[in-house]
Amino acid sequence: MKFWFLLTVALASILMLFHLHVINRHTREAFPFSTSRDTWSHDLTSHRSRRTAPPLQSGTNSVTWREEQSKGDQETHHVFFLKVHKAASTTVLGVMLRFALSRQLAVMLPKRGNVLAEDTKFFHQNVLRLPEGRSHYDMLCNHLVFEERLIRRTFLHPDAKFLAIVRHPFDQFISAFQYYRKVYSVPYLTKIPGRNPIATYLKNPDKWEPINPLTSYTNNRMSFDFGMKHRYVSNETYVDKYVEYLENTFDLVLVVEMFDESMILMKRLLGWRLQDILYIKSNRMHDKQEYFFTNQDRKIHRKLRTADYTLYNHFYKVLRMKISAAGPGFFEEVMHFRNIQQNVEKFCLEPKKSLSLFVNSSSWNEAFHVSYLDCVLFKMEEVELVDVARRKLGPLDGWPELSSFNALFF
Ligand SMILES: *[C@@H]1O[C@H](CO)[C@@H](O)[C@H](O)[C@H]1NC(C)=O
Ligand SMILES: *[C@@H]1O[C@H](CO)[C@@H](O)[C@H](O)[C@H]1NC(C)=O
Repeated sequence: MKFWFLLTVALASILMLFHLHVINRHTREAFPFSTSRDTWSHDLTSHRSRRTAPPLQSGTNSVTWREEQSKGDQETHHVFFLKVHKAASTTVLGVMLRFALSRQLAVMLPKRGNVLAEDTKFFHQNVLRLPEGRSHYDMLCNHLVFEERLIRRTFLHPDAKFLAIVRHPFDQFISAFQYYRKVYSVPYLTKIPGRNPIATYLKNPDKWEPINPLTSYTNNRMSFDFGMKHRYVSNETYVDKYVEYLENTFDLVLVVEMFDESMILMKRLLGWRLQDILYIKSNRMHDKQEYFFTNQDRKIHRKLRTADYTLYNHFYKVLRMKISAAGPGFFEEVMHFRNIQQNVEKFCLEPKKSLSLFVNSSSWNEAFHVSYLDCVLFKMEEVELVDVARRKLGPLDGWPELSSFNALFF
């Protein structure tokens, strides 16, 4: 009797394990989600309510922030970074990918190119599949349009930290206008005449904007990257609610105008080392034309693109609060970081294979070296760095090794 019972249990277990194995393989190969657009509409009320930001007054609520810092003692490997257009995000992408390369993490990368999606939330067809033996991706930082459910529930580990970046909307607009007009010759932008085409545009933006707002780089593009719906961007109630939703969803939103401060907050939040957040600024246009803008131009823009301003003003305020709450040592750490950054930039200007830069230990870091290879990686263009990541971190089959990269890495 006992024998038969045990045999049945054993057989049942084997069947169950086999079944699980099949399901596992299935989910790894084909991501199980519906592609019906209707099911992905944003439901603003159903998000998980998480931490709220500490209040504005400095010091009063520093406990919340400190607790978060101390949890960061163990370095975080599960990170989502929303790469917002023309907002120093190539620089942050570089930091993310270099970190992933140094830890051999599974990054969710596009099969080709450096972008997952530009004008749709459905980017899963362009994803390089998981390396063997991984259940989720560790990191996701290439450009896409934000869609929380897809990212949090399907692709990344549930405990992934959510990061993003914003820039002052006027500067972001000018930068995007120039970049996509000059570098990508986007037709609706190249059509705009005048000695100062941006001023021409601002006189009557509707005349120039493309019919499909999803293909625009100048119409509340930051809000769109964050997943806001275009047909609601002039609905203040919607925008306010959406920003509140983002506040509850993102752990940290960096601000370009306080970039180094943002990087130190990121370092503390993720428990990363100082050498992990080093960078050399990238993807900046060198032959950018300088235009003069009047206060009227700025006013028009602010009036026209309110969603981007609401978004920016909110996260600017939140970052200021987090800095106030970070305590007196914070600015010393920022200054220290800037000092090291300068030395690294100088060293990497003309690095030599036989030399490395020694950085001594301090209250914020252990001693480390910056090598020739580090400099090469710091200075690599985004497209090339994504390619290196694909070859070094992607699934092994189907990707021919490039001998020049091998020479670099081994
Ligand atoms: C504006 O957005 C709110 C919240 O999403 C919604 O309830 C309201 O109907 C919207 N108003 C218009 C005119 O679309
Ligand atoms: C590094 O710093 C320590 C003290 O913090 C000092 O004793 C040591 O000489 C320094 N090393 C170098 C190479 O500067």
